[in-house]
Amino acid sequence: MKTPPKTFHVKSFGCQMNVYDGERMAELMTAQGMTAAADANDADLVVLNTCHIREKATEKVYSDIGRIRKTAGKSGGDPMIAIAGCVAQAEGEEIVRRAKVDVVVGPQAYHNLPALVAQAAAGTAALDTDMPLASKFGHLPARRRVGPSAFLTVQEGCDKFCTYCVVPYTRGAEVSRPFAAIVDEAKALVDAGAREITLLGQNVNAWVDADGRGLHDLIRTLDRIPGLARIRYTTSHPNDMAQGLIDAHGDVESLMPFLHLPVQSGSTRILKAMNRSHGRDDYLRLLDRVRAVRPDIALSGDFIVGFPGETEADFADTLSLVDAVGYAQAFSFKYSPRPGTPAATMTDEIAADVMDERLQRLQASLGRDQRAFNEASVGRTCHVLVERVGKLPGQWLGKSPWLQSVHLIGDHAIGDMVTVELTGATQSSLSGCVPHAQPREMLNVLHNVLTV
Ligand code: 5AD
Ligand code: SF4
Repeated sequence: MKTPPKTFHVKSFGCQMNVYDGERMAELMTAQGMTAAADANDADLVVLNTCHIREKATEKVYSDIGRIRKTAGKSGGDPMIAIAGCVAQAEGEEIVRRAKVDVVVGPQAYHNLPALVAQAAAGTAALDTDMPLASKFGHLPARRRVGPSAFLTVQEGCDKFCTYCVVPYTRGAEVSRPFAAIVDEAKALVDAGAREITLLGQNVNAWVDADGRGLHDLIRTLDRIPGLARIRYTTSHPNDMAQGLIDAHGDVESLMPFLHLPVQSGSTRILKAMNRSHGRDDYLRLLDRVRAVRPDIALSGDFIVGFPGETEADFADTLSLVDAVGYAQAFSFKYSPRPGTPAATMTDEIAADVMDERLQRLQASLGRDQRAFNEASVGRTCHVLVERVGKLPGQWLGKSPWLQSVHLIGDHAIGDMVTVELTGATQSSLSGCVPHAQPREMLNVLHNVLTV
């Protein structure tokens, strides 16, 4: 028997969907009368919301568990530990056996967390990695208080089975939430303080409902919610980029000019081995169609270097694709074999030093393009949504429509939508001022001081 926990702390790793899930688990436990602790060391219950996508994820979880126990032990504590997220799904009972944690709960079962915690408090380790047909969303409490930019999961799971990826195994098959439930949650988020909503899904642009409506229909409906100024969505698959969604980028004002569209490699041969079901030219043609309706759109992508069999010529194709696209930002990773995926059994692995060197070259190109994109924004006037306070007194941090971080100095508040002239750029952020309100040179000096 353990004392039922009164305080909790959720630590989320990995993707934005995990951030969303972490928020929903926190809301669940708050609705049970528990209080959030800002520090894991002060919590009776620590939830590790884990990620399994790359690199030794499982080992990291075990060492985190050890660290939590050791730190808590020093002050005489013995917190209950719950493992959630994709490592929980992949490892299941093994975590209970190996680390003696109290609760293991998969991404499709976390609505049961309070019951599992109660079972653990009664003395039996509790495990739920089911993927039930009935969705967890109907069992979660209403959204009450959120920041100006909120996440909303509309779709989960993946049917694409890229050969390197664990997601189809940990998150299950593609499932779309119903239209009305999403619209209701969006309205609740706006009532709770959101001015921007990012629609989330592992393949968000595969969202479809029973009446055949697609993501663009959903976006057009959300666009009519009073008070909702900005809509974004992520992550998209090139094959699900319907013309209706492309068209929405041309005429839905609240749909922000930003598209995260992972390509993974610029080599059609490697894309085939990855089972990506699109080639290099399909991807480039698709981006041409998007740019035709929204020429200023900021493009973002994901890349994997060192996939088994990747030759120098394949990698050169990736670099030339990057040059052709001119990404505003991008994520790039070294290939990491994931247990249970088809690529994990491929034999022509790439040596670690070759992978390191390719990643460096790719990141140099991507960094150069990101800086160029930011520099090209200087002189533009745009809206910035103020999201948090900056490091200096009077400094604020917000986002441009193109998802760039913008530093502002002035009399603002979190949630303000400010008209800003962009005045300076670095690779990772911009500085801006409210036209005629501040001496611009002064702000640029401050920006440079802050970002060196
Ligand atoms: N190795 C390296 N990167 C991976 N990703 C997914 N699986 C792997 C893997 N096994 C990357 C892809 C994906 C992003 C979320 O993580 O680029 O788009
Ligand atoms: Fe993984 Fe590919 Fe599905 Fe993306 S599309 S989640 S990379 S299997």
